[in-house]
Amino acid sequence: MSVERETTTRKRDRATDVAAVKIQTDRLLLRRFSHADLDAFVTYRSDEGVARFQSWDDSYSMAEAERFLADDSDVVPGQPGRWLQIAIEERGTGKLCGDCAVRVTTEPPRTAELGVTLAPHHQNHGIASEAATATLDWLFGEQDMHRVYAQTDDRNKSARRLLERLGFRLEARLLEAEWFDAEWTTLRIYAVLKKEWLELRQL
Ligand SMILES: CC(C)(COP(=O)(O)OP(=O)(O)OC[C@H]1O[C@@H](n2cnc3c(N)ncnc32)[C@H](O)[C@@H]1OP(=O)(O)O)[C@@H](O)C(=O)NCCC(=O)NCCS
Repeated sequence: MSVERETTTRKRDRATDVAAVKIQTDRLLLRRFSHADLDAFVTYRSDEGVARFQSWDDSYSMAEAERFLADDSDVVPGQPGRWLQIAIEERGTGKLCGDCAVRVTTEPPRTAELGVTLAPHHQNHGIASEAATATLDWLFGEQDMHRVYAQTDDRNKSARRLLERLGFRLEARLLEAEWFDAEWTTLRIYAVLKKEWLELRQL
């Protein structure tokens, strides 16, 4: 291999390493999205129940998914200001179960927002808890975050239960703070600090 080609290959490998996400749990592999995920991604994003409290609606299309993937592929984990969508794959079957969405804020530093979405048939099996726990371990470990927060619609009982089960504290209940889907909506803000997470995990 020529020196120039070797340098280019090393640079590309380094860029791939920086962009890679590979987290394994008992049942799951958390990794970057690929084109092969898009059919399953569109199927769950266009489910009425899944879309109910989200920023997209149940008309979510393959064209939107293609745009999402093009945008998401550019994001480097830990990059402030951009959402990184981490695919949740069922180990063994290789099926896409859903995703953990992570956004490191531009201000303040070492702060990230987290959201979790599962396809309906993967809900109620502890998969969201398992995936979110691994994502939080990664955010507070490798990514060295100080605080992770999550926002949810007050009516989103399964999201509230998930966050409370994980050990997030309810920090605020913002009454009719958002105009969403043609009505005033009450929001809940939950958060967990690194020191709290380490204690919860007894690390
Ligand atoms: C929010 C959401 C991810 C929560 O998913 P979930 O399936 O309820 O959460 P988990 O995967 O952790 O499953 C927990 C449930 O499975 C049950 N369960 C069954 N088998 C289990 C197992 N082996 N391990 C752990 N829990 C298990 C638990 O008892 C629990 O039920 P409960 O909440 O009635 O007590 C899901 O409802 C969703 O995708 N909603 C649509 C998108 C959305 O609104 N996301 C919120 C963005 S913040």
